This record gives sequence, structure tokens and C-alpha cells, in this order.
Amino acid sequence: VDVVNAEFVKSSVKTEDCPSDGIPEFALVGRSNVGKSSLLNSLVRRKRLALTSKKPGIKHFLFRLGFEISTFRSEGTKVLFIPRCKKKGKTQCINHFRINDSWYLVDLPGYGYAAAPHEVRTDWAKFTKDYFLNRPNLVSVFLLIDASIPAKKIDLEYASWLGQNQIPMTLVFTKCDKRKKKKNGGKRPEENVQDFQELIRGFFQTAPPWIMTSSVTNQGRDEILLHMSQLRNY
Ligand code: GTP
Ligand code: MG
Repeated sequence: VDVVNAEFVKSSVKTEDCPSDGIPEFALVGRSNVGKSSLLNSLVRRKRLALTSKKPGIKHFLFRLGFEISTFRSEGTKVLFIPRCKKKGKTQCINHFRINDSWYLVDLPGYGYAAAPHEVRTDWAKFTKDYFLNRPNLVSVFLLIDASIPAKKIDLEYASWLGQNQIPMTLVFTKCDKRKKKKNGGKRPEENVQDFQELIRGFFQTAPPWIMTSSVTNQGRDEILLHMSQLRNY
């Protein structure tokens, strides 16, 4: 179930533009700063992964073309590029990464960053709702929730919408390595995870599967990959 290779395929602004080969895919979504990029890197990274970002020239060139973070090289073969697709200063693209030539990890725009709720909703409606509702090969949405802080309203709204529309979902709690802090509500990640599940219970007929993760300790990484392989049936 490990990731042997990962390659960026394309950025799409509409569901119709997404790859049409029909192989199974999993979408990662979450509030800005929840740890989405860190998780993506932790998922595609193998144990002995070399840093290759020592060529600033190439990096700068790619950056100008709309790519960033060309830092990872998996076992000396394929390099992963994180696309940087922005319009009006916001990431608004559906980014497809092909894993092991057989399934996709899909990076969706984060929500809730420095924007009025109205603007966020408009964005979300445009770029992701349509994708969630009209993508037959989408096996499960992986909704990332920061376990180091109490539940946020916008996360609950997101989970509620997915539940109401019966979109298959997996909860991924991030930053589970963090210690409790007074300014963050004074609860341990385990407690925040419990609370969140309690709060969303009414949105789902059956409680969604959930996984606790940390990109610092790599907690949950193998569990996510195993879960994805079980959902794909291979
Ligand atoms: P945007 O791209 O801005 O939407 O953020 P993101 O969701 O991609 O988050 P990113 O991975 O950039 O992480 C945001 C911050 O949280 C960074 O400072 C990370 O180092 C930190 N972070 C991410 N994952 C973890 C984690 O598992 N544990 C801890 N302690 N910090 C984390
Ligand atoms: Mg990011």
C-alpha cells in the first residue's frame, strides 16, 4: 500500500476538466493551515527520500510557471511538483496527483482563510461543490480537522454539507502530536477529536471513519494509506 511514485498530473478549474480515465480518487480538503500540504508530503514521502530543492534556478523557473515546492524526489526517479494555481490571490484549483500509476490524490482549495464567510462560500460553491457532486470516481473525501484546537464553525458546516449530500467522507484529525494549551481551549487532541465527533453525529446516518494523524511523528500515515487501499479494493 506504500507510495512508490507520485506525479502531478494537472490543475483543473472545473469538474469537466479533471482527468477522465476513471481511476479511483481521494480528495483532501480542509481549512487553510490545517496541515494539508504537510499531510500530502507525508503521504507521498517514502522513508529514504532525498531533498532535491538545491537548485534555486529551476525552482524559481517552475514557480513562475505556476509550480512550487519541487523538493521531493522519491527513490531517485520521479519528482513531485506542487502546482500553484492562483486567481485573485487564492488557490482555486482541483489538483490531481497520480499515485503508483493507479489512483489519484486530489488537493482541493483550502477554505476559511482571511476571507469573509460570504466570499468563502462563493468560492467553495464554485470550485468544490460541483466536484463533490459530479465526480463518479471520487471514492471518499478526506476532511482534515485540526485536533489541537476546539471545533470551528466552518469545519462543522463543511462536515454538515458533506453529510447532507451523502458524500462519502473520512475524517482526518491533524496535529495530534500537539500538547494542550490554555489559549487553544485547554484540551488534549484526543478530547477535541471526541468533541468534534459528538458535534457532527447528527449529520450522518453512520458515523464516518476517522484517523488521528501527525505530520511531525507520521502518526496515522500508514493507516490512511491502508484505509485508501481498502476503499479501492486493492
Ligand atoms: P495552507 O496551504 O496555507 O492552506 O495550509 P496547509 O493546510 O497546507 O497547512 P501546512 O501543511 O502548510 O501547515 C500549516 C502549519 O501547521 C505549518 O506551520 C506546519 O508546520 C504545521 N503543521 C502541519 N502539520 C502538523 C502536525 O502534524 N503537527 C504539528 N505540530 N504541526 C503541523
Ligand atoms: Mg498548503
